[in-house]
Amino acid sequence: MVALDGPSGTGKTTVARKLAAKLGAGYLDTGAMYRLVTLAVLRAGVDPEDAAAVAALARELEVSVGTDPARPRARLAGEDVGDEIRTARVDAAVSAVSAVPAVREVLVAGQRRIIEHVLDTAGGIVVDGRDIGTVVVPDAPLKVFLTASAAVRAARRSAQDTAAGRSADPATVLASVERRDQLDSTRATSPLRPADDAVVFDTSELSVEQVLVALSELASQRG
Ligand code: C5P
Repeated sequence: MVALDGPSGTGKTTVARKLAAKLGAGYLDTGAMYRLVTLAVLRAGVDPEDAAAVAALARELEVSVGTDPARPRARLAGEDVGDEIRTARVDAAVSAVSAVPAVREVLVAGQRRIIEHVLDTAGGIVVDGRDIGTVVVPDAPLKVFLTASAAVRAARRSAQDTAAGRSADPATVLASVERRDQLDSTRATSPLRPADDAVVFDTSELSVEQVLVALSELASQRG
């Protein structure tokens, strides 16, 4: 079990999926779960800042994410939503939605159930998020926290968006990344921060392959 936390644009998701495939383990993208709730909030016309309405909606939702690192599908009430959870609209609202304690309560309980099930069946799992080492699985044998400068993270997000056919003005992406980090690391419930016993890796100057080699080594020692 590897807990992989950090802000966006650190290469976390790419590394987590590749690491899971390499280890023959499952993969859980907890960010996709917060994005699914956010998409449902937007589709329902609920104000993402209206915590009571967001909480009520989250309690009724059927959110599901696959754990195959090659194809982690995200579903809302059975519908495969594809890349609709990765739009700028969802990016702009997801931090407000994920700061609502009831949303975190519902999703963390679901995450723990998925992790337990995958550990029982596949034997291992790489979990990608913001609070995995601090809250979801505080006794994970290996906790990694990836960081990178805001400029590098924005450049990576822009490249990802361009590759996926989404608009990606670098200045807008940088502003969105910085805003999301600020909101995620200052919220009252489960703020983004490294666990005291996490290995912190700055990936600004490293390629995905270099990070993968380092993490595979750590995982083979204590994953
Ligand atoms: O990882 P990703 O960028 O897809 O996450 C989207 C958002 O979901 C984050 O900016 C954060 O607000 C929220 N999130 C969270 N806790 C997690 C994973 C994601 O609050 N474990």
